Formats: sequence, structure tokens, C-alpha cells
Amino acid sequence: MSDLKRSLSEAAAAAFQAAGLSPDFGRVTASDRPDLADFQCNGALAAAKSAKRNPREIAVQVVDILKTDPRLASVEIAGVGFINMRVSSDALSTRANEIAADPRAGAEPLAAPRRVLVDYAGPNVAKPMHVGHLRASIIGESVKRLYRFRGDDVVGDAHFGDWGFQMGLLISAIMEEDAFIGALLERLVEAPRGFSAADEAKVMAEFAQRVTLEDLDRLYPAASARQKDDPEFKEKARKATAELQNGRFGYRLLWRHFVTISRVALEREFHALGVDFDLWKGESDVQDLIAPMVRQLEVKGLLVDDQGARIVRVARPGETKKKKLPDGSVVEVESPDPLLVVSSEGSAMYGTTDLATILDRRKSFDPHLILYCVDQRQADHFEQVFRASYLAGYAEPGGLEHIGFGTMNGSDGKPFKTRAGGVLKLHDLIEMAREKARERLREAGLGAELSEEAFEDTAHKVGIAALKFADLQNFRGTSYVFDLDRFTSFEGKTGPYLLYQSVRIKSILRKAAEQKVVSGPVVVGEPAERDLTLLLDAFEGALSEAYDKKAPNFIAEHAYKLAQTFSKFYAACPILSADEPAIRASRLALAETTLKQLELALNLLGIEAPERM
Ligand code: ARG
Repeated sequence: MSDLKRSLSEAAAAAFQAAGLSPDFGRVTASDRPDLADFQCNGALAAAKSAKRNPREIAVQVVDILKTDPRLASVEIAGVGFINMRVSSDALSTRANEIAADPRAGAEPLAAPRRVLVDYAGPNVAKPMHVGHLRASIIGESVKRLYRFRGDDVVGDAHFGDWGFQMGLLISAIMEEDAFIGALLERLVEAPRGFSAADEAKVMAEFAQRVTLEDLDRLYPAASARQKDDPEFKEKARKATAELQNGRFGYRLLWRHFVTISRVALEREFHALGVDFDLWKGESDVQDLIAPMVRQLEVKGLLVDDQGARIVRVARPGETKKKKLPDGSVVEVESPDPLLVVSSEGSAMYGTTDLATILDRRKSFDPHLILYCVDQRQADHFEQVFRASYLAGYAEPGGLEHIGFGTMNGSDGKPFKTRAGGVLKLHDLIEMAREKARERLREAGLGAELSEEAFEDTAHKVGIAALKFADLQNFRGTSYVFDLDRFTSFEGKTGPYLLYQSVRIKSILRKAAEQKVVSGPVVVGEPAERDLTLLLDAFEGALSEAYDKKAPNFIAEHAYKLAQTFSKFYAACPILSADEPAIRASRLALAETTLKQLELALNLLGIEAPERM
């Protein structure tokens, strides 16, 4: 079973081959002019160029062969040699029935599945999440679901930021603020002799009493600002970071407390957003791999001393960029910058944990591909890490890919901030979206008959759909402006519009069940039935494009077109009030199939539709 675009491409490829030309010219696409054709093939033009022949002549040859294809009602040449095809109603009916019977709604499983690890969201302990994390979560979740749905063996990992300088900052800040903890940690450099599990539990309980999530939220930004013009404090924090990493006992205990409370809160918020991870590994999890890795890099001759720090040079000979020095002069320096592996204090850096994580993933899951769904602003970082791992033989070239994205901006065109100028919290953002959704539902007179609980559930789903669809409908590289009014509208290209359409189909199906109308074989006749079937057939094409480009916007676009086309179909082709039982049954099957496919597409976007609204 295959979609029409693909099976017609195969037929056209065979026709080109029979005409003595490369089958590659047989690529068939949906027609640019649906008023004239369903599909088109422009291969005769390219073939003519390479064979130095007349394009029309080639088109005539190909068309003569294609004309014998029973699925095609017409094959015509347009202009200088475009081939236009119309599919017969019978072939469309056959295809519609295939999709209706297919639990995957016409989507093909991959011929050669791979193991793929999706590294996404990347939240941090204490550091507040910004729009970059929001987009990483939404896009990463969708890419993960798409890859899994098509058949890859997929693991999604949050790659929790729990090992960097922010840990040293927090430890130093807390020791200063809380004299009790300060003194305790001064004492607990090593585990005291005979320190039991009960003693440890006592210390942990003390931390739980004294250090809350609110404290971390308050202390981190203050400490981060302070280290900028307090070199003494900065030094202290850097030292604490290195000591933590080297295993200083008390620091590890306090750190474990930070990690636990942050993670619990984060997981809850991600879950509310419909983002759930298979693995919640931290940067810290690879600590034990770092020393042997550093030794190995050394043996491979990749590690270079640089003013007390140790780096891997990743630029190839001649790869340079111009750099302006503080005195205003310009020099040529290697580009990309070298990867910093060990800081002058002996700390592991962001790139170090990323490199060691590649080793760790190879041991545990051995992925063919790791996709890093992270802010485009980190492109240079990933370029350095990838090159270093290829140099060290930690991954096959091409086995690591950064799927970057633009920012969600405020109306000032800069990355979105709250009115107070801070970064928005995921929790607050979701609540904002939910509140707007409640308002929208009320003003549209929707959900009035729902229980309060069901109404809240619907408002939540509408709010999340609004945020996610607004993000995913753009190609990920594109930045967009945060506009909750527009995102939550029930009209236009929005998440709520899609939910509304799917709820509408559900209500038609409920009515059909009440009236004991059952679906039957699809018989495509009316133009609106043809259009809907052609769109259902295009699902596979949209998924494969989204997959190849790691770009969920192709799924979003398909879902939107499907909802619109269904709407037109329903306006032109009454279902339950059609006179003939066979037509009722056929149209009902089309409605069921549309819902199945729409829900699948929404699910791949990470969007859940309510039953009613
Ligand atoms: N925690 C990082 C940040 O907030 C993102 C992590 C992305 N993933 C990675 N493997 N580096 O910027």
C-alpha cells in the first residue's frame, strides 16, 4: 500500500525509463493547479535539457505510456512539457478505503528503522527556563513522536543541566546566607568516619527544611548578577564548582537536594505541557567518564594546553574568522573556536559533558543518530562538540545533528520577556494560555454545558494547543512573535481551530451512532469528496517531509489543510441527511477517516483534543 504521489512517481519513473531516460525524472508532485489536475510531473523539462531533446516530444512519449495506467482518468501535456494527471474516481475510492481501513491512516512505516536519540528541552537546575527551552520542548517532543511513529527506536532525553558553574554559585550563595549550612558544609568535606545512612538522611532533611525551590529561584539570579562585578565571589563559586565535581562530600549532598527539588517541579510543568521524557539524564551522570575521556583525548594527541586550560582544536587548516581585539585591532583567528575541555580550575565545561554524554549514549543505546533540539544560538557550541567527537572517533560523521530553531519574540522583536522584564516561567505561561482559553471559550459560547472540571480540562487543552500550534506551524528556523490573542482564536490557522474541527467531527459521529448510521465503503463522487480523499492521501508525503527535514511544520500544515478541506466537504456533502444509505455510509467513513488522521497528526504535534467543547 502506498500513497498516490509515490505510486504515480513509480509509474512515471517506469515510463521515463521505457523512453530511454533516467527514472529519476519521474518525480510526481501534487498539482500547483488543482483546477486542472491532481498531480503533475515536470520531469520532461529536466530530461530534455540533459538529453538535448525537445521537452514536448519526451512528454508525448511518457504520456503515451502513462495513458495506459488504469488509475488515471486523464493525462495531458500542458505548456512546454508539464504532464498533468487526474486520478480516476475508482482509484480514489480504492485509496480512500485503504486509508479508512489502516490504523496508521495512510502513513507508511520506515523501511529501515534506526536507533535515534532526541536530546531536547535541556532545562537547568535553578536557572529559570526561557523561551529557548519552551521551543526546544515543543519541537523536540514533536520530532520524537514523529520519529517513533514512523518506526525508529527512539529515546527522548531531557539532558538536565545539573553540573555547571550555576551549582558553584548556588552553593556559595547558600553557605553565605545560611550560617548553619555554611558551617555544616565547612565540616563535611569528607564523609565523617561512621557516617550512616541515618546521619545522611538527617542532613538531607535539614536541607529540605532550609532550602526551597523559591530560595533557588531567588538566589540564582542574584548570585549570577553578583559574580559579574565581585571577582572574589566569582572565584569562590568557581572553586566550589570544581570541588563539587571532584566529589566534596557535603557539596554533593546539597547538590543532590537542588537536583531533586528542581526536577520534581520541572517534570510536573513539562507534563502539563504534554512533554514527557523517556530519560532524564543529567550532565552530572557522565562525571565518571570524564577523566578517562580526557586521558584518551590526550593519547590521541587531540588535547592542547592553553593558558592552564585544556582544549581541542577543531578548525581545519585555513578555517579562520576575523576577530576584533579590545584595542580595536583586527586579527585572524581559527574558526570554529576550540572546544574547552578542562577549565584552568580543572572543571568540566558544558562541552566536556556533551562530549562525554556521546560516549555514554554509545555505550547504553548506541544510536545511529543523535538529534539535539536546541536554540539556534548554540550552533557554534554544537559545531565544536560534533567536530571534536568525529576527530576522537566517538561518532560516525553525520551521526550528530543540531536541529536549531529561532526565538519566540515579544512585540519589540526581541526574545520574549514578561512585562516585568524577566524570563517567563513555564508555569506562568501555561496559566496565561489557559486563562485566555477560558475567555475565548466563554465568548464563543462553548463548553457552557460542561461540568466545571470538564470545562477546565478543555480550557487546558485549548491553551496548550494554542501555544504548541503557534510554534509548530512555522518552520523551526523562523522566529515568531508571541501573540496570545491570535494563538487562541478559534478562527484562522490556530490550534484551537483544529481542536474545534476535530470536536465537530466527533459530534457528527456521535449523532450518527445515535441514529444508528454505520459507515461503509467509500465511493468518491463529488468534487469535495475527491479533494478530501486527495488530502488524506497526502498525509504520508507530509510526514516524510517533516521527518527528513526534522520540521514538524509540515505536519501542522497538513493538519490545518485537512481540517479546512473537511469543513468544505461537510458544507457541500451532507452526511446524515444524504438521501441514499450508501452515500451516508460512504461519507460517514470519510468523516471517521478524517478524524483518525487529524488526531494522529495532532498527536504527532503533541496536541490533545477534548471530546467536547
Ligand atoms: N541546558 C542547556 C541550556 O540551558 C541546554 C542543553 C541542550 N542539550 C545539550 N546536549 N547541550 O542551554
